[in-house]
Amino acid sequence: MTATMSGIREATDPSCTPTVTATATAAIAHDSAIDWRAVKADFPIFDHEVGGKPLTYLDSTATSQKPRVVIDTLHEFYSHHNANIHRGLYALSEAATAMYEQARAKVARFIHARSSREVIFTRNATEAINLVAYSWGRANIGPGDTILITEMEHHADIVPWQILAQEKGATLAYIPLDPATGTLQMDKLDDLLTDKVKLVGVVHVSNALGTINPVEEIIRRAHEVGAVVLLDGAQSVPHMPVDVQALGCDFLVFSGHKMCAPTGSGVLWGRRELLNAMPPFLGGGDMIRRVTMQSSTYAEPPARFEAGTPAIAEAIGLGAACDYLSAIGMANVRAHEVAISQYALERFAEVPGLHIFGPLDVRQRGATFSFALADVPPHDMASILDSEGIAIRAGHHCCHPTMFALDVAGTSRASFYIYNLNEDVDRLVAGLHKAAQIFGV
Ligand SMILES: Cc1ncc(COP(=O)(O)O)c(C=O)c1O
Repeated sequence: MTATMSGIREATDPSCTPTVTATATAAIAHDSAIDWRAVKADFPIFDHEVGGKPLTYLDSTATSQKPRVVIDTLHEFYSHHNANIHRGLYALSEAATAMYEQARAKVARFIHARSSREVIFTRNATEAINLVAYSWGRANIGPGDTILITEMEHHADIVPWQILAQEKGATLAYIPLDPATGTLQMDKLDDLLTDKVKLVGVVHVSNALGTINPVEEIIRRAHEVGAVVLLDGAQSVPHMPVDVQALGCDFLVFSGHKMCAPTGSGVLWGRRELLNAMPPFLGGGDMIRRVTMQSSTYAEPPARFEAGTPAIAEAIGLGAACDYLSAIGMANVRAHEVAISQYALERFAEVPGLHIFGPLDVRQRGATFSFALADVPPHDMASILDSEGIAIRAGHHCCHPTMFALDVAGTSRASFYIYNLNEDVDRLVAGLHKAAQIFGV
């Protein structure tokens, strides 16, 4: 272990590795030949029926299921390594600290960050965006400035900017969504990207439509006017290779629980220069250098932004999830989702009255499908499918502006991940036919 400037220890000692190692067990035969059924077998939730039916879980956009190795990592940590971190001068605490910092290094490698010191553990993507809005935003946004986001954002990437804009007298502007294609109206960027824009917030992959946005172009053009770019990677980091250095964004946020890790684990990645200049978000223990009666000086990032006892076991679980997904290979994850999306689109075409929102070209989309079956209400659709053991999501998906643009109150949404197989598509399509029959479509 090496002590760093902020007093945080970076884990480099292999003896600190938890005894559970995160490999995708039998799943990996060969880089490009994954046994996806064996991947599914890594997830104990599928060992049991739900309501007397095998589970077809199609709500990974909301949260993913957890592989055994992640569950075992939590059990292992609490059984053998549990202690608070960064302050205990005893072996157990030092080992827990090393495991926590090792998880940070794994996350950094997973997103190709320059340094693990650019990785801040948060509870989820929402907290990560709020951290940027409260810290960077309050220091850098003023009256007359513009914050530019898109009509495709999750509420997590809207509400913090509304609060900030209202407080600072700034303007919140939106890149509009083309309802016909489910893509951003990029031709509007010329007018929207003025030198008043100080921050651009954009979702990498839409949780409501599955659309993959042209974020490279948005980042490049935002930088041309001097704006900082926050990329919401909640639906990209779990599903495809994401390289923050290649993308060139300034902040990236994502949630561990959507990528096989425990709930309560999330990440803010920020460019080091930006993080170094940012004031604290929350104050308290572990984020200070020195506290006097009247004032305090603060630790360097990442500690500056991790006040109080963090979600230690959850962060270590996120490290195990990064190992698990890396063992499969993120390019293979993406290839699997492209293949299952292609199959899903072919099968969806057989269902009369079914409308898919968002792009129909698998190269432009992730494996999240929002749909409407004639005028079957989404909540009824979810109930009918639930009675068949199929878990989907119904409603606005925390994307009211997207729903306004589509002129719908909500949609039904089925999302696929590494443990889904073509047979899950078949069960969904059978369920859609049943719903059509019930509603006389
Ligand atoms: C695109 C996107 N951004 C942000 C979030 C918020 O994630 P969390 O609830 O984990 O903070 C979600 C959750 O669904 C999402 O899909």
